Amino acid sequence: MQGKKETSQITSQLNLRIQTNKKFGSIDLDEWLFKKLNIRKGYNVLDVGCGTANHIIKFAELFPEGNYYGIDISKSSIIEARKKAEQRNLRINFICGDASEASTLEDGFFDLIISIYALYYVKDTKKLLLVLKTKLKKEGRIVIMSPYKGNNDEWYSFLSSFMKIPAEIKYIAGNFMDKEVLPFAKSNFNKLNTFHFQNKVRIPSYHDLKKYWASNIYHKLKFDKEFEKYASDFLNKNKNFVITKKALLVVMG
Ligand SMILES: C[S@@+](CC[C@H](N)C(=O)[O-])C[C@H]1O[C@@H](n2cnc3c(N)ncnc32)[C@H](O)[C@@H]1O
Repeated sequence: MQGKKETSQITSQLNLRIQTNKKFGSIDLDEWLFKKLNIRKGYNVLDVGCGTANHIIKFAELFPEGNYYGIDISKSSIIEARKKAEQRNLRINFICGDASEASTLEDGFFDLIISIYALYYVKDTKKLLLVLKTKLKKEGRIVIMSPYKGNNDEWYSFLSSFMKIPAEIKYIAGNFMDKEVLPFAKSNFNKLNTFHFQNKVRIPSYHDLKKYWASNIYHKLKFDKEFEKYASDFLNKNKNFVITKKALLVVMG
């Protein structure tokens, strides 16, 4: 999915997207997620595809007694994650590598394994989920969050005015959780909970919309001129550009 882009470029794009969602969104993803996770003191937590460790750092700050692990394939994200953890004096173990490196961790060790907006990048979802299950304590949980049906619809229909949206982007939003994660959860866990997440992101200016466009994984320089024309037209007629972020959170176990 990430093509040939440098991982440092992907990291800065990820940071920019997160900042836009936080600044202009109607709901804070981290707070919403944290309430659903019900983390306790002393938990052992693994974050698969942790990026720059936004989530796991928050957990470690609140409950420093736990053991925290983050895996990510992006070198620049792991460098940034390590730096952030050091600055906060937090003890987090980072592994720079493919998610499958989770197989090297201790069996039956984790209370909680999360993967937030990352699992759909992994080649074989089912194989990885089976490995992750072996790493859980008896009462442990795996929590997966990914885009869901209707995610970014306004944005995609806007972009479709001047470019073709890659099929895999639509697949992730429309099918990934229903086809790959939920069937696994149903056949491998007795307990299963799902939660729908929705965030209306209201982008108020051409300047901010352009930054958002530049941070998209499907941004291409050759479409910048078209973007400029359509985006300024849109914002001349509308107060904001509203993008609805939809995701599904699946809690197994
Ligand atoms: C959209 S970001 C989400 C990051 C983080 N979970 C968050 O919510 O801020 C997806 C992350 O998955 C990582 N990733 C992609 N493919 C991976 C793989 N095969 N193994 C491990 N990490 C991967 C990327 O480097 C990126 O940091």
